[in-house]
Formats: sequence, C-alpha cells, structure tokens
Amino acid sequence: MKPLEYSKEAKKHFFSPKYAGEIANADAIGQVGNPSCGDVMRVFLKIKKDKKTGKEKIEKIRFKTMGCVAAIASSDVVCELAEGKTIEQARKITRKDILKAVKGLPPIKHHCSLLGEEALNKALDNYEKK
Ligand code: FES
Repeated sequence: MKPLEYSKEAKKHFFSPKYAGEIANADAIGQVGNPSCGDVMRVFLKIKKDKKTGKEKIEKIRFKTMGCVAAIASSDVVCELAEGKTIEQARKITRKDILKAVKGLPPIKHHCSLLGEEALNKALDNYEKK
C-alpha cells in the first residue's frame, strides 16, 4: 500500500508540533472525538484580558491528540492560528483556514481538520460558560 502524500507543512507540524502538551492550570478545556475513526483531540486554553483593549485573548493554547497524521498536523495548526487572538477572532477559525494553513491534506483526510475547529470552539464554550 502506498503511503498518503502530505504537504511539507503538514509533515512539519506532525513531526515537530510546537503546541503539543497540556496546560496544568488551564482556564478552559475542550474535547471532541471523531465518531468515524475514534480519534480524540483535547485543547487547553489560558485566557488573559488585554490591558489596552480590555478584550480577552488566548494567551496560551496547547493540544493533546490521539489521532492520525492529519489530526496531529491540524491540531498544531489550529493552535498556531488561535494563539494571541481574541475570543471573537478565534471563533472565526474554520476547518478551511486549517486546511489552508497546513497547505492541504489528502482528500480522504479532510474530515480530520474538523477536529481542530470543533475542539477550539468547545474550549471557548467551556470558558464562556464559567
Ligand atoms: S483518521 Fe481520525 S482524525 Fe484522521
């Protein structure tokens, strides 16, 4: 069986993820699973109010994903896209943004990018419900 072709960017995020890990005293956690494959992603957020604007920002974000190459790469990319953003801006990050940032995924793996969008939103829901 031939291995799937991944972009250089996807491989970079898979082999050397910058945002893998946990935040011990996280302000919010979001976890989602992909029912079709059983892969699970968890997102940890540290939120801080910006002194200048008064808006809450994602100061730090980390992920823990039990999943495939595409799921790990998408997890790392969604963290890169979300860190430093306000909650409002982070809510606008979609799987399309993730796919673009990772420079595409094999078509059979497109659904894996959904984990990132959903886990981030779940963590933001968790924060806003507190
Ligand atoms: S195969 Fe499960 S998220 Fe990729």
